[in-house]
Amino acid sequence: MSHFEERLSRAQGLLVAEGVGLLVISPGANMRYLAGFTDEAGERALLFFVPPEGEPAFLVPELYAAQVEKRAAFPPTHVWRDSQGPRAALEDILRAFPGGKVLVDDAMPAKDLLLLEELLPQAAFRPASPLMRRLRMRKSPEELSAMRRAAAIADRAFQAISARPLSGLTELEVAKALEEEMLKAGAEGAAFEILVASGPNSALPHHRAGRRRIEPGDVVILDFGCRVDGYCSDITRTLVLGEPPARVRELYEVILAAQRKAVEAVRPGLPAQEVDRAARGVIAQAGYADHFTHRTGHGIGLDVHEEPYIVEGNTLPLEEGMTFSVEPGIYFPGEFGLRVEDIVVVTEEGAESLNNCPRTLRCVG
Ligand code: CO
Ligand code: CO
Repeated sequence: MSHFEERLSRAQGLLVAEGVGLLVISPGANMRYLAGFTDEAGERALLFFVPPEGEPAFLVPELYAAQVEKRAAFPPTHVWRDSQGPRAALEDILRAFPGGKVLVDDAMPAKDLLLLEELLPQAAFRPASPLMRRLRMRKSPEELSAMRRAAAIADRAFQAISARPLSGLTELEVAKALEEEMLKAGAEGAAFEILVASGPNSALPHHRAGRRRIEPGDVVILDFGCRVDGYCSDITRTLVLGEPPARVRELYEVILAAQRKAVEAVRPGLPAQEVDRAARGVIAQAGYADHFTHRTGHGIGLDVHEEPYIVEGNTLPLEEGMTFSVEPGIYFPGEFGLRVEDIVVVTEEGAESLNNCPRTLRCVG
């Protein structure tokens, strides 16, 4: 059985168990996961239909038909032409609909959903995310192998960049250099817009990268990752240009201890929020609770941010094969911020870090 047949059979098992009549997937990570093909969600309807039993249907615009035929795990069963529009093909697919609930991809373009609603006026439409998350959260050995490669490439890019003098470069130039290192090492591209936050910008957890020039004395946060076979990596390391002041050193030890404590807490069966509490506890004890202004982590896989979220209120028990970030940070507005982030996978005994480059506060030129 191929990966995709196995995924289809698990999806159909859940559809039957929950009395769902149809699962409809639009372009994005879910389509890549279930059908082995994706594209940008564009103006033309490209939809993958999973019934509770039997073969899936693939509604494909004519100009994608050859690509889907070649690359997807399932054939394009319903090809529609620009001169016709998708309606007739869609009606043909929906003729087999047994009634009941329809689960739709949360990222489905509204125009596609509106058409589905028009053609199935009796159906109850629900988001597919709760079902998709059950399928995607635990990674298979093949998925983990892609994630390990993506993490190793990010680790190496960090080692390469932190060995160079950064003083005088703009944040954007450093971001570009990180991306080039990852491409050279075989990545498909950056997994998300690379964050390079220098000086006071480092106090803004979601500062991207701008034209500010990095100067001696700056704290610099690098937060980046790449894709390998569609799977993402995501790492954060903090650098200092020159000798860090004692206060920066001490605070860095706090987030490092918080991250270690959180990673050590990970084990199967532990509610996700306990990992957040472990990190937060260390930072609160040091007196900086108010400076840790975001959740401790997020799941990662085909999407950079996916379930499980490592956040207070998420009681979902961790399971072997789940992958997520552990990324505590502290921020002092107008001054600087510090963060460290690794991706871990839940194992039988605890957690294995996919990122392995040094976590110490790196002093560079
Ligand atoms: Co990150
Ligand atoms: Co992250």
